[in-house]
Amino acid sequence: MIKRMLFISVLSFSLFSFKPEKDTQKLINPEIEAKITTLLSKMTLDEKMGQLNQYTSRWEMTGPAPQGTNEQQMLGMIKSGMVGSMLNVTGVEATRKAQKLAVENSRLKIPMIFGYDVIHGYQTMFPIPLAEAASWEPELARKSARIAAVETSASGVQWTFAPMVDIARDARWGRFMEGSGEDPYLGSLFAAARVKGFQGNDLSANNTIAACVKHFAAYGFIEAGRDYNTVEISESTLRNIVLPPFKAAADAGALSFMNAFNEIGGTPSTANAHLLRDILKGEWNYNGLVVSDWNSIGELLIHGVAADKKEAARLAITAGSDMDMEGNCYVPNLKKLVEEGTVDIKLVDDAVRRVLRVKFLLGLFDDPYRYCDENREKTQILTQEHLVAAREAAKRSIVLLKNDGGLLPLKKQGQKIALIGELAADKDVPLGSWRAKAIAGSAVSLLEGMRSALTQPENLQYTKGPIYVSGKSLFTVPLEFNTTDRTGIDEAVKAAKAADVVVMALGENCFQTGEGRSQTDIKMKGLQQELLEAVFAVNKNVVVVLMNGRPLDISWMAENVPSIVEAWHLGSEAGNGIADVLFGDYNPAGKLPASFPRTLGQVPIYYNHKSSGRPFDGEGNVFWSHYTDAPNDALFPFGYGLSYTTFAYSDLKISSPVITKGERLQVSVTVKNTGKVAGEEVVQLYIRDLVGSITRPVKELKGFEKISLNPGESKVVNFTLDENDLAFYGADNQLKAEPGDFKLWVGPNSVEGLESSFTLK
Ligand code: NOJ
Repeated sequence: MIKRMLFISVLSFSLFSFKPEKDTQKLINPEIEAKITTLLSKMTLDEKMGQLNQYTSRWEMTGPAPQGTNEQQMLGMIKSGMVGSMLNVTGVEATRKAQKLAVENSRLKIPMIFGYDVIHGYQTMFPIPLAEAASWEPELARKSARIAAVETSASGVQWTFAPMVDIARDARWGRFMEGSGEDPYLGSLFAAARVKGFQGNDLSANNTIAACVKHFAAYGFIEAGRDYNTVEISESTLRNIVLPPFKAAADAGALSFMNAFNEIGGTPSTANAHLLRDILKGEWNYNGLVVSDWNSIGELLIHGVAADKKEAARLAITAGSDMDMEGNCYVPNLKKLVEEGTVDIKLVDDAVRRVLRVKFLLGLFDDPYRYCDENREKTQILTQEHLVAAREAAKRSIVLLKNDGGLLPLKKQGQKIALIGELAADKDVPLGSWRAKAIAGSAVSLLEGMRSALTQPENLQYTKGPIYVSGKSLFTVPLEFNTTDRTGIDEAVKAAKAADVVVMALGENCFQTGEGRSQTDIKMKGLQQELLEAVFAVNKNVVVVLMNGRPLDISWMAENVPSIVEAWHLGSEAGNGIADVLFGDYNPAGKLPASFPRTLGQVPIYYNHKSSGRPFDGEGNVFWSHYTDAPNDALFPFGYGLSYTTFAYSDLKISSPVITKGERLQVSVTVKNTGKVAGEEVVQLYIRDLVGSITRPVKELKGFEKISLNPGESKVVNFTLDENDLAFYGADNQLKAEPGDFKLWVGPNSVEGLESSFTLK
């Protein structure tokens, strides 16, 4: 106990003696801070605890059912100011009603803030975040987040639990779909863009909402890809790989962060003072609010670091978790903890200040109902304009993985096309997992998209093939895939025989991905492989359209099938977006945001790995790091993606072979469209720091630019690198660049490219 008390006082000291360098998030407004100080001085301890308390509505739940408080009790608590925030209350009517309870009954009339998981759209669904990252266009993500914010705010909600910025390396994890893939640089740009999209330029406007960066931290590194599992991660990987997107989101002004469920090195994130106090609120001087994940404070008991809820509350508030989401730990315990002197009131005040700060910044004190506008709700959700943007996002997120012999694009007339597979006619799966208020079955299916693109729709014959998921509900665990009922295969084979070209929609149901949807296997489930082989046996002109939320093992397909289109779960306009690509109305330009393994055994697989002392030498020597039954490299590497045209890279130039600290290195390369159609290319720059005080990755993405070129056209693409781009966290946890030699590549993906080198003096 003495040790613990000492720890707490050290923490309190570091919290309040910390001298902020600068307010990078721009969340501090002196006028607002003064108002908060006045309000805080009027609040009782109970009212303070109330602000730190968040309950879910009882009619929509995104976690295990709440315990301890029934609906009636909850309503009473709202009235007495004991609920600072609610999640899963949506719609103008419901949010207005709940807000009224708080504002008209509680002593200080402090408005509640309403949160909801708006991950890739509210009702107009955009591509799942992983897919959108494949566009390599952060601006696209900013726009879709902006639209999501317009729709969310029009329904009375002013806080989204997004973006999810967890780096993922293990495709077994169902939440792979929710992030931007494996790379910290790409992930950082998307994190910042999404925050800017949700929050817009004016937080007090009624169509901007607070972002919540999650899950802090390292949730994507759970062991064996099993959701909620333990994380073992070094401080170096944490700082160099996992944290950069969080930092980028904080710097972009994100109003809030969410804890992760996982422990790191024995300390659950929710009770992790190193993460929250030392790094987030200390080093980064973060001024926003930290909300726990669903009952993650209560789960400190189950983790086995707290004997009861009181201890859990003490650990969480001390570590820096400000708001208790559905954990019922703060309200019954904080008061006692403060009164008996175990928790410094300053910690509580600081947490309350952060909650109030967000409410003030959103303008809720000026008008608690500013987001409750029936007219906006009627006119600004699922609009034609939003659907146009969703189609744009869909097509730009597609990655062409293979196109041997130029089977694609397809012809709009004069070609008999067999479209095969249950997913092709599915109007629900493309909406993806974590779909907020998407209307079930409202997506444009691939079948519909293709039909409307064709000049001769009668040339398209659709055959369903065997059923995929045989279980009654997609919410049963485990999912039951059909592996026995082969009805439909013969018909598909017959259709394939009669066609010039076959398009097959294969992959995953959207509820195979998302929270709680980890898998031990990343091959296509059910009878899909069997169907593919049966069809391929009678017609080699097969185009596979993949619909999935994680990297899949598609080795057989990649080896045999001439054309593969990675179409993820693309949202409301999926079918139209895919048809745009299949028929060449849009030339695909997406690049993979994550490596596709050859086999699950390679997982975790990522391009920015370390060398090891015995890297594979390519000679078949036994004593080098390798597998005896598969290559080391990815089937499709990070950054990979084809186009209907081809690009040639030449003339890689650097401004100087040596730069000194403070100087900039200019890099240029010429890219030429050497094919017959216009196209876009993502030109990528990677570096390698050859010798460091700690080992450095064999490649690191440090820049990219998406350019558009007409046939025969060339462009010079310029990059600038400075010391910051070369910096990393060493053993002393300080961010700095170390003098020495660097390699540099510019190319179309993480394995190909022109090479150069330079020295930092
Ligand atoms: C649990 C999830 O981990 C988190 O991402 C989500 O925001 C909350 N539930 C609330 O639904």
